[in-house]
Amino acid sequence: KKGNYDHFMQKEIHEQPHSLTTTMRGRLKDKSVILGGLKDHLKTIRHSRRVVFIGCGTSYNAALAARPFLEELSGIPVTMEIASDLLDREGPIYREDTAVFVSQSGETADTLLALDYALENGALCVGITNTVGSALARKTHCGVHINAGCEIGVASTKAYTSQIVVMTMMALAIGDDRISNQARRESIIDGLYKLPSVVGEVLKLDGQINDLAKSLIDAQSLLVFGRGYNYATALEGALKVKEVALMHSEGMLAGEMKHGPLALVDETLPIIVIATRDSCFSKQQSVIQQLRARKGRLVVMCSEGDASLVCPGGSCRVIEVPQVADCLQPVINIIPLQLLAYHLTVLRGFDVDQPRNLAKSVTTL
Ligand code: UD1
Ligand code: M6R
Repeated sequence: KKGNYDHFMQKEIHEQPHSLTTTMRGRLKDKSVILGGLKDHLKTIRHSRRVVFIGCGTSYNAALAARPFLEELSGIPVTMEIASDLLDREGPIYREDTAVFVSQSGETADTLLALDYALENGALCVGITNTVGSALARKTHCGVHINAGCEIGVASTKAYTSQIVVMTMMALAIGDDRISNQARRESIIDGLYKLPSVVGEVLKLDGQINDLAKSLIDAQSLLVFGRGYNYATALEGALKVKEVALMHSEGMLAGEMKHGPLALVDETLPIIVIATRDSCFSKQQSVIQQLRARKGRLVVMCSEGDASLVCPGGSCRVIEVPQVADCLQPVINIIPLQLLAYHLTVLRGFDVDQPRNLAKSVTTL
């Protein structure tokens, strides 16, 4: 089942050019997106007052990555809820809301309870899941199967990238009736067609990331700074590292750096800064400058060709990744961090596919 790979997580990381292809199969036609599971509900979604994304763990992070593009294309406010927190607060959900539930397994207890709660409150409930016939798929009013293929490793990898792609396609479908978006839409659709092959390119960084992992093997802690489209990348990269490599790791919003985290910076704490090209690039450049001024131990992820720009003088490690459309960049940027978590785990001698204390789906409370 693992073929030439040592672990399912490794196989699933390397399978992403293929899983993304199956996710998109039959759903892109020339310059339009067809999501069979949503087409009869698009009008209702467009007329909703708010879209609420609800999920746990990696599925929540995937929704966070897709949020800016959905806001941009739909003009509808999009809010985020971790399923357990929505339930703890009994937060308001209205009939005029579209509640989008994201779950690889479709069986996560908190997500399903939040779904019951949203159904009781009369919201339109949409599912995004990898599992046909799951409780989530059955109980939602409509939805989209991500079709990433069975995911076995406890650490979710290929489901994350397929979830982002499905939610990006969902944004394209919802925003379809706006003429003003047309050029933007077409360039993203073009980017979707090319995405699997670019993911294949990024996977060639495997050896370089293994070297990076060797340099981090004994670190006590790892921070990941991101913002905009890649705030989610920071959270998800850190989740992978803590979950499988059993290393303390936190993803942080770079815009919050001066409001606390900066106090942690010294010459020993490794910090990954995501600074690929998008509208936040110059802000991330100044974050890097400030971290360098405090002699931070930096690893910068930047777009190809930007190494000397983000790190003049070569005082930090750099991971260069291909640039794609801004809203698709999280799909590219997570891959080196998935590889890093994988290699760190192997080097530290921990169980990759069955991390300590964790289950693939959390079906009990
Ligand atoms: C569907 C078929 C697919 C076929 C294609 C051809 C299934 C599972 N999918 O794919 O095999 O090749 O038509 O046109 O038979 N749904 C939910 N909640 C969820 C997920 C899905 O209610 O969380 C519903 C959808 O609204 C839809 C159905 O399940 O009614 C299937 O969804 P999906 O597989 O995404 O639809 P298609 O891509 O059209
Ligand atoms: O099956 P789900 O997507 O609902 O699972 C949600 C989380 O339990 C899951 O993403 C968890 O965070 C993963 N182990 C992360 O790799």
